[in-house]
Amino acid sequence: MDKYFLTCPRGLEEVTKKQISSYVNEPIKIDKGGVHFYGNLKDMYTINLHSRTGMRLLKNIFAFDLEKPQNLYRNIYNLDWLKFINVNKTFSIKTKLKSHLFNNASSVSLRIKDAIVDNIRKKKGKRPFINKKNPDVGLYIFIVDKTVKIYLNTTGIPLHKRGYRSKIHKAALNESLASGLILLSDWDKKNNFYDIMCGSGTLPIEASMIANKIAPGLFRSHFAFQKFDNFNKSLWIKLIDNAKNNICFKPNIKIFGSDIIKDNIQLSIDSAKKIGIEDHIKFEVLDMKDVSVQDSQGTLIVNPPYGNRIGVNISLSQLYENIGDIFKKKFIGYDTYIFSGNFEAIKSVGLRSKKRVILKNGTIDSRLLYYPINSGKFD
Ligand SMILES: C[S@@+](CC[C@H](N)C(=O)[O-])C[C@H]1O[C@@H](n2cnc3c(N)ncnc32)[C@H](O)[C@@H]1O
Repeated sequence: MDKYFLTCPRGLEEVTKKQISSYVNEPIKIDKGGVHFYGNLKDMYTINLHSRTGMRLLKNIFAFDLEKPQNLYRNIYNLDWLKFINVNKTFSIKTKLKSHLFNNASSVSLRIKDAIVDNIRKKKGKRPFINKKNPDVGLYIFIVDKTVKIYLNTTGIPLHKRGYRSKIHKAALNESLASGLILLSDWDKKNNFYDIMCGSGTLPIEASMIANKIAPGLFRSHFAFQKFDNFNKSLWIKLIDNAKNNICFKPNIKIFGSDIIKDNIQLSIDSAKKIGIEDHIKFEVLDMKDVSVQDSQGTLIVNPPYGNRIGVNISLSQLYENIGDIFKKKFIGYDTYIFSGNFEAIKSVGLRSKKRVILKNGTIDSRLLYYPINSGKFD
């Protein structure tokens, strides 16, 4: 059994644990920014394919305690690097420090790189080279107090890159975060799902993938583990086939995405088409005030603009006030949510949130706020 750490956006640790728990037999332990678990090769492929909220699946390959910082080079040099880095492969190193022993992550990475290169050159007479952008082998080093843990990135480019985006909307949500918001919302996958400010459609697309059991990794062109020497192609193909067979389009779920900007809706449709779900989401160019709401129950999540960069000719506080009014008037009986990093603007919504979840959107402190809209309450 190998030891794994699946990273995720901050605030999604619980959801990440819950979502992968049906795929992992061993206990899953929550940590800041991810979850730990033990697993085998099949688990590693499975989690890369099925984790909706994870970002990178890291495999622990070495761990040791450091007596003094001067020992770092020697300790790293003494490890069996050829097991993971072939001379003809490129590699990269990312270091995270939480230790009084060091204060500069880049210089630590440099020292580690020198030790690895020297080790391999000594054994093979040749050295592997660094490729920061697209390495064959991505190493993650965590130094916490005196403990050094070295991980191998089994994912490659992060899992949120599902492969369905044609172009990027400048304020698009990270797909793993969007999926996490939906899972946090407790949407039952049966009633309607709305996003009335959908931008490039991330929330409706992720909602459709969840409801129709489409594995999030199914449309990625590549995972780092496919370049590993122990890559088991037949096992991987079997897992892909299972995931494809598991897709089950539910005809009755209605998922709606609308946005005031036509180009955004085109982006959404293009992405949905890329993964064959265009007939399962109704995308429309609409000002949110013109949205007509079907049925008297469902879930709505909006991710309104945070700042003034998005071309809307009203103030942000007015926009947030309008969102609150639309919720009250049109979404009676719905579970409505706002995801935003602008706490001042949120005050203008004019509704009392029943639940708030603290999250990070990249580096921005954000909140998912829950406003259940009960009938009669706002008359
Ligand atoms: C932060 S972006 C949403 C990004 C989206 N979650 C995604 O992943 O691409 C906010 C969106 O609100 C839209 N918007 C602003 N005012 C609107 C209005 N009155 N009605 C509908 N959409 C509006 C903008 O066009 C923009 O696409």
